[in-house]
Amino acid sequence: MSEERSVSEEGSGAGKGELSRDQAKPEVFPGGGGIEWVSAEETFGHSDPDRPDAAGVGPLLRGRLGFPIEFYPQLESTNRTLSQRALAGAPEGTTVIADQQTGGRGRLSRAWFSPPGVNLYLSVLLRPDVIISRAPLLNMVAAVAAREAFREHGIDVGIKWPNDLLTGGGLRKVAGILAEMRSEGERVSFVVLGVGFNLNMPQEAFPTELAETATSVCAVTGQPVSRPGFAACFLERLEAWYDRYLAGETSSMIAQWRASSVTLGQEVRWEVAGAMRSGIARDIDPDGSLVVQTADGVQRVTAGDVHLVGQL
Ligand code: BTN
Repeated sequence: MSEERSVSEEGSGAGKGELSRDQAKPEVFPGGGGIEWVSAEETFGHSDPDRPDAAGVGPLLRGRLGFPIEFYPQLESTNRTLSQRALAGAPEGTTVIADQQTGGRGRLSRAWFSPPGVNLYLSVLLRPDVIISRAPLLNMVAAVAAREAFREHGIDVGIKWPNDLLTGGGLRKVAGILAEMRSEGERVSFVVLGVGFNLNMPQEAFPTELAETATSVCAVTGQPVSRPGFAACFLERLEAWYDRYLAGETSSMIAQWRASSVTLGQEVRWEVAGAMRSGIARDIDPDGSLVVQTADGVQRVTAGDVHLVGQL
């Protein structure tokens, strides 16, 4: 009997594939002896060098994650489409990227804001041969890899348990991770690891409900980010940490997570069966649970969200 659910808390379904777009238009590129008119179609295979598709991302990759890449101008959800590919037998490393999502999924049944042309919505298929209790650590693998990719792009981010990437004094969210798993008995069959990166979204373009809590790399640094370059950088970092995970070497990953945590040492609040609990976040367990010192003793938070008291 196989079962599909979020690595932390929710289920997933299958979706449908989409179309292609884009008429190539002539664009201007500097040539050797001055300015030449060159078709971007000729140079890049399409009219937009920032389009994070196979032609843009593939040549930048050196490892095995990111092969093959499926790019869609618009999808309901990259996680949903990749789950469908996984059920049909797609190999580990298969990556689905969309320019826009119409039903981007976040954790805890939230939506993920996914407008076109600015951000990166990417899902990668992992088939680790592990028992299901090891799967939640893949959230941390992704968070640590994403943090490194952000650093490479000039922005320092912290990790809020379990896997939000936040930046700046206001600790605004620049990326979120949704890992969805299918299991066979006690073993993982596959994990669809989906990450939404806010890269070039202008701050004023966030909807009101996100204006105070979300930001993008470009809004913080003033520098636009290449979406193909960022995608390749993340996939490369992910592979390096994933290989350590597969080899059973998770201590350096947990150490990295601890070092970049904005949760540890802070007062946190969370909900259990309708009741609010609070305490000081002290540590992260080797299984990824958050260890909290409360007035009633040490408690472990294994799923859901915690709120940083005095923040957000
Ligand atoms: C969160 O709530 O913080 C997780 C957000 C995850 C969003 C990404 S975007 C790519 C992939 N496809 C989805 O539908 N969701 C994930």
